[in-house]
Amino acid sequence: MVLRLILLGSPGSGKGTQARMLQEGYQIVHVSTGDILRRAIQAQTELGRLAQSYMDDGNLVPDDVMLRLVKETLDAPRYEAGYVLDGFPRTVPQSTAFESMLLQWGAALTAVISLEVNREVLIHRLSGRRVCPECATTYHIDQLDPSGELRCTRDGALLVQRKDDDAQAVAIRFDAFERETLPLKQFYRDRGLLREIDGSRATGEVFKDIQRILA
Ligand code: AP5
Repeated sequence: MVLRLILLGSPGSGKGTQARMLQEGYQIVHVSTGDILRRAIQAQTELGRLAQSYMDDGNLVPDDVMLRLVKETLDAPRYEAGYVLDGFPRTVPQSTAFESMLLQWGAALTAVISLEVNREVLIHRLSGRRVCPECATTYHIDQLDPSGELRCTRDGALLVQRKDDDAQAVAIRFDAFERETLPLKQFYRDRGLLREIDGSRATGEVFKDIQRILA
């Protein structure tokens, strides 16, 4: 069966972390709209220039831009073997339009997995997150040796803090999540696709729950 998954969850809930584990464990493609946008910003493309001001402040990029991006991305042969979407859809208009895209492609979603994590844990995770600017692997300062330089264990690049992880942008991102993205839970519950799991436990425990859902 081809796996087509959506990971839903607040900023910092672990979507990127679990999506990377799913990519490795199930040989499906991890599609992070946030990573695609950050690469576009780094490369100074037209999309990057458009997205930057929204992202730096913690606001969502307009729906029409995201829908064009996802349509162009997923309409390619490498996605036929399955994928996990991390960060898309995140508004009701995006979910509705994505439903039509899937219909057009004759494809169906396997599940929508919502990672539930409380605010205190989210703030701790986001304030301590460091990312590799080369491969986008995420770390938390609690896992790193504070006495040396913080480098990616995969490619040795110096780790950085995301601009939108400062306290002001994080507050705006939480608001956007509650206003725009939380209603998606009902959207997918109505379609019998929603699975909620406790995302506040250790990474491996959360992944085991996802594996149980997919078994
Ligand atoms: P995006 O990059 O998607 O960010 P986000 O949704 O805010 O989510 P994060 O990446 O902050 O968190 P995550 O859930 O992936 O957690 P992670 O695994 O890193 O989007 C950024 C911006 O792009 C948006 O604000 C918007 O502007 C724009 N954008 C993107 N898509 C869009 C769309 N569809 N429409 C409109 N705009 C869009 O984990 C966080 C930290 O916790 C890490 O340090 C990690 O190591 C640690 N951690 C993870 N899991 C655990 C665990 N189980 N236990 C302990 N620590 C953990």
